[in-house]
Amino acid sequence: TYVASKVKNCEETGFESTLIRLPEDSTEATLLDTIQSLNQNQDIDGILVQLPLPKHISEEKVIEAIDPRKDVDGFHPSNIGRLVQGLPTFIPATPYGILLMLEHFNIPTKGKHAVVIGRSNIVGRPMSTLLSSNIPQGNCTVTLCHSHTPNLKEICQQADILVAALGKPEFVTPDMVKPGAVIIDVGITRVADATAKKGFRIKGDVHYDSVSAVASAITPVPGGVGLMTIAGLLKNTLQAYLNNRG
Ligand code: GUN
Repeated sequence: TYVASKVKNCEETGFESTLIRLPEDSTEATLLDTIQSLNQNQDIDGILVQLPLPKHISEEKVIEAIDPRKDVDGFHPSNIGRLVQGLPTFIPATPYGILLMLEHFNIPTKGKHAVVIGRSNIVGRPMSTLLSSNIPQGNCTVTLCHSHTPNLKEICQQADILVAALGKPEFVTPDMVKPGAVIIDVGITRVADATAKKGFRIKGDVHYDSVSAVASAITPVPGGVGLMTIAGLLKNTLQAYLNNRG
């Protein structure tokens, strides 16, 4: 779903994109060779490897193989290091999309308590870093929660801004939410549903109907953070183009 949307959004915005679909049983070496040739191809400004990868391939090795100047996902350790230090870099697309959304809706962040649930390299960890950074959509006090956080409910109740990125459908319920909080739902899980046309529905990490009654702002799923992720990705790709040829 993601890949198809990325290709389509590239077409709509006038980016030239190439989808390389390797068989699932491809070796790690084949993937690394493919990345090498894309690194060396001067016609290409941005590379992203859609995750997750099959178990026999090291995600770490693959991400490190991408030229950091073409790493439009912002996952390369040197780009994450730059992000932590507040240096110019590619901000990972989902956190970037969330910052754009906070900016667009003029959500105040300075001095607020942001709670992030989930510590993934793709969303939770960079999101918590950005929200605590000295940037316009930052300057929050941030609590990063994860599967070993014992008093999660009590911590969530203290959040002015709650980012749910744990991958458990409808995990966040109204009893966990401070009235007036801003709720950002990063979850996208397919849940089987015989009444749905495709046999499944996409569910977020937040129980939208009940939480929207107490929140001051909330993102829907689908149609929320997912769309902004692609906007973040395209902005990074445009930046890579400008860096390389501008
Ligand atoms: N899988 C889930 N989210 C992402 C993302 O933002 N980028 C890539 N490459 N893979 C993902």
